[in-house]
Amino acid sequence: MSTPHIEAAPGDFAELVLMPGDPLRAKALAERALDDVRQVNAVRNMLAFTGTWRGRPVSVMGSGMGMPSISIYANELFADYDVQRIVRVGTCGALRADMELGSLVLATAASTDSAMNRQRLAGWDYAPAGDFAMLQALEARARGAEVLVHVGEVFSTDYFYHPDPDFVDRVSRQGILALDMETAALYALARFHGRRAATVLTVSDVLPRGLHFSPAERQAAFGTVADLVLGALLEDVDGA
Ligand code: HPA
Repeated sequence: MSTPHIEAAPGDFAELVLMPGDPLRAKALAERALDDVRQVNAVRNMLAFTGTWRGRPVSVMGSGMGMPSISIYANELFADYDVQRIVRVGTCGALRADMELGSLVLATAASTDSAMNRQRLAGWDYAPAGDFAMLQALEARARGAEVLVHVGEVFSTDYFYHPDPDFVDRVSRQGILALDMETAALYALARFHGRRAATVLTVSDVLPRGLHFSPAERQAAFGTVADLVLGALLEDVDGA
């Protein structure tokens, strides 16, 4: 069996999949954090790998950027490969001036300007939320490791370059912590399929202060996040 976008065989994916946006980051992350790594997808260069972490199977796959892209892959992973848990490990633009580059954001829920969830629910507003137990385990692990972590809502936007000049102000005023481009769709899909998802974002931009990671810093931000996620979800009982 394969799907239109994934050529892996049944059983090639672990129950837990970490999803960075960039497929090359998926490769780097798998090689850094996992043993016995093998590549299980290369369709459209959306690389996916499966290996083991302390003997437990784990997969890592790129999601691409934006909600249509992550939805294609998450849908096929949940529906066709029996994946139980997806953790998005991405970057975000922080909306609060007191947030630091490199700190983490755990997304409890995600608002959005995308129409995807409205189509799913006949035009109704919908509140996509992450898996509480996974988020709790991730928070506990981060605090235990003395990693600077913010827990709260994100806004998943279709626009990296938003045409509305008041966009950032409006969203900030609602108490939303950060912007990404995927979580609202991932959380809705996980719930629809009866599976679990959580998003862990590294702050790569602090929008009110005009601070931005360089491309190299964006790439480097992920090593410790993978260790944190795997420790929280495979070692600690609560998130497992
Ligand atoms: N906007 C949307 N998504 C992002 C950003 C941003 O500023 N930074 C990282 N992901």
